[in-house]
Amino acid sequence: MLLEQVVIMLSTLPPNSVIGTSLTNTLIRFLWADLDHPPVAYVGANRYRQADGSGNSPWDVQLGASHTAYARSVPPMHPLPPNLPDPGTLFDALLKRDEFVPHPSGISSLLFNFATTIIHSCFQTSLADPNINEASSYLDLSIFYGNNQDEQNKVRTGKLGLMHPDVVSSSRLFLMPAAVTTLAVVFTRNHNLIAEKLLGINEGDHPDVVKYKEDTEKDPKGLVQQDEDLFQTARLVNCGWFLNVIFQDYIRAILNINRSNSLWSLVPTGVIRPPLQGPFPRGVGNAVAVEFNILYRWHAAISAQDEEWIEMEMKKWGPRGKQPVDYTEEDFFTVYFNMTKALGESQFSPLLLRERWNIPGIKRKSDGYFEDRDLVNILSAATKNVAGAFKARGSPAAMRIIDMMGISAARSTWGTCSLNEFRKFLGLEQFTQFKQWNSDPKIIDIASQLYTHVDNIELFPGLLAEEAKPSMPGSGLGPGYTVSRAILSDAAALVRGDRYLTLPRLSNSMNANNFTVYQFEELTPDLEGGSFGGVLGKLFMRVFPEQYSFNSAYALFAFSTPATTEDILRKLGIKQQY
Ligand code: HEM
Repeated sequence: MLLEQVVIMLSTLPPNSVIGTSLTNTLIRFLWADLDHPPVAYVGANRYRQADGSGNSPWDVQLGASHTAYARSVPPMHPLPPNLPDPGTLFDALLKRDEFVPHPSGISSLLFNFATTIIHSCFQTSLADPNINEASSYLDLSIFYGNNQDEQNKVRTGKLGLMHPDVVSSSRLFLMPAAVTTLAVVFTRNHNLIAEKLLGINEGDHPDVVKYKEDTEKDPKGLVQQDEDLFQTARLVNCGWFLNVIFQDYIRAILNINRSNSLWSLVPTGVIRPPLQGPFPRGVGNAVAVEFNILYRWHAAISAQDEEWIEMEMKKWGPRGKQPVDYTEEDFFTVYFNMTKALGESQFSPLLLRERWNIPGIKRKSDGYFEDRDLVNILSAATKNVAGAFKARGSPAAMRIIDMMGISAARSTWGTCSLNEFRKFLGLEQFTQFKQWNSDPKIIDIASQLYTHVDNIELFPGLLAEEAKPSMPGSGLGPGYTVSRAILSDAAALVRGDRYLTLPRLSNSMNANNFTVYQFEELTPDLEGGSFGGVLGKLFMRVFPEQYSFNSAYALFAFSTPATTEDILRKLGIKQQY
């Protein structure tokens, strides 16, 4: 009615009226701002997420696609001194773990194993050209769906939208602790559950929902289309599960909200429409930047048990008689080479047949699947193990060559900005003294010798050896202050920029039309489910139905150690319910 009244009022003003022109212009601006310009998606086209992540933006098809260059967020303007410390010296002085300190919020190793699946879905620096990211910039679970069509084809059976039993794609995962790959396998299994249900229920008359054919035997083309529709819809829904675990379980723990009975979660996908300004953008695409590749190298959080694991794996595949802490870049490539060779490939290839790979320590059954019990044991052990605290001198010694390669890439290949430039970019105060960055006198002493001026601190050691934020209400992760500020912005960019996860009422997004009503309801967090809207427990229980009781704290609160969970539940007065 307000609009009609404005129109009537404007129509009564004389044509040359100054007030009338001004009000008319305001009205036009208001109407223009209602819609996205240009539109962010078309119907029909790219109904499904492309295997390589291309096509998220119809205006920049390659935006965030795999095998494209990393973005840069901050241009480096501050000239760094020519005699920067050697990466090995930097690691030994500022990053190498001096002692294991348990995580102050009681976060379990499993949370960081899950974080590893997130970062490897978005970052896979090419070994041949470190400017290139072989992963897409979307949370598309490429660790097991593959980074391109070729890799995707390897993990698919080609029938009924199903994937091979317990398969993963990214060979980068093979060096990771068993819980990382087990989490990937949980989602692979979830894919097959979703695909089977899609076919079983065969829901939908809406043009956007596939009506799966009952009898396609006599129709080879129909079979191929059926496999494609089931696979791609299941993939979209599975990424929805991944996203929900991120926002309902992972970010809750990161923000320490898991210590309360709050049902709030920081989900950045919804409509935001400030008055007169039009819709706040969504689904416009994203390209991950090199600064964030560095920022997420949370090797200090590796648990004592995972530290043992990486030490053992590096020794197993590396050059005989040499300690991992002494490895060179060449030795590290030997590790990859020997691992991939053992998988049946004569030389390093990103297209291994993933089925032949096993989670170390457990065996596949004759049907190709691992035993549920074995997988659940791996997950529960990672929940029992406390993660490491973020701190300077927190990264396990065996990670030396890995961090050194990261420091070199940041410095020489990417030429990233300094720590202070990154802080300025985030709107944070710049450090003027070393002690503002880290108050430990030993660290100040070393850093001032290595860098002479606080403006010279490079991004890699700057972010990862910064003093950790204490565990407090609203902040449970406890990384350095700069990291803690930046990760939430990055999460918003990653998720809000992804049109397959954000735009409702379009044929290619996370909504009931596209996901089918049944799947959409399955995905909706259950606020009464025992973990304040958490989704991870529900996922574990549906993938391993025989292994958990309905109130198992190992499933419902897997990202905190059992002792921490017990303490939280006791304080909330609900311990007896679990
Ligand atoms: C025992 C556990 C871990 C091992 C063995 C490990 C190993 C590695 C290795 C070998 C690389 C070199 C590049 C590659 O092969 O991808 C790497 C890079 C990286 N790591 Fe870790 N990591 C571990 C835990 C973590 C955790 C907990 C995080 C943070 C969530 C993390 C974040 C990263 C990032 C962001 C990169 C750069 C990836 C790239 O540029 O491709 N890592 N890590």
